[in-house]
Amino acid sequence: MSVQAATRPRPPIAAPHLRKDAWWALPLTTAIVLGSFIVYSTWAAFQNAHYWAPPYLSPFYSPCLSARCLHVTFGYGLPEVQLPIIGVLSPAFLILWGPGLFRLTCYYYRKAYYRSFWLSPPACALPDAQRGGYSGETRFPLVLQNYHRYLWYVAVIFIALLTWDAVLALRFPKPAGGAEFGIGVGTLVMWANVILLAGYTFSCHSCRHVCGGHVDVFSKAPTRYRLWRFITRLNEQHPTFAWLSLFSVGLTDLYIRLVSMGIIRDLRII
Ligand code: FES
Repeated sequence: MSVQAATRPRPPIAAPHLRKDAWWALPLTTAIVLGSFIVYSTWAAFQNAHYWAPPYLSPFYSPCLSARCLHVTFGYGLPEVQLPIIGVLSPAFLILWGPGLFRLTCYYYRKAYYRSFWLSPPACALPDAQRGGYSGETRFPLVLQNYHRYLWYVAVIFIALLTWDAVLALRFPKPAGGAEFGIGVGTLVMWANVILLAGYTFSCHSCRHVCGGHVDVFSKAPTRYRLWRFITRLNEQHPTFAWLSLFSVGLTDLYIRLVSMGIIRDLRII
């Protein structure tokens, strides 16, 4: 843009914006879907029941760290945490901060909820609903979004734990005791969930940086270059993984919950 064009005064347009398309459809849909997930996951975390339908463990309760867990992940349990008013804290609250903060600080979700919940701005070429002036993510609390790069390491630990859960979902308890190999619909649900969550985690911008984004001379680091190229291709699909993994984690909990409550029967394939 020339200096002349930059200093030219804006034309006197009275309308707040000139968009005539359904610009509101995307932020509205995002607000409904994200809001529904937040409501459902909070409700599920408070339930403190029906998260274990052997051999399936809900991802909202994995790893299950409390001594009161129906299925203690590491063979021992932490003492239960009791809070005023709330009472005994569900085991979900001991771990959900990890994946929760990872998603909350995700670059893609930031754009999604800045637009849909804060209308800041709701879409391109629309005025920002926040009138206080744009400060980006340079001040508290939004400056904390920069810790996303460290939360990525936490998210990788959760992928390892959920993969282990999916492996255990191949070991069905026998009526006479012990366990046997098997595959049920729940096994497939858990594997689909962990694959989508891994796709989301490893397509993260921070992962791309860790794998090779910080390298100055790629010709001196050919392995990192190949890895960076692979993650870059994955990174292009990050929004898709963000939504698919959001649905998969919620639906996996719902499936295991319904099986545990006896509302549906898990179909054994093998
Ligand atoms: S940018 Fe979305 S998870 Fe890192």
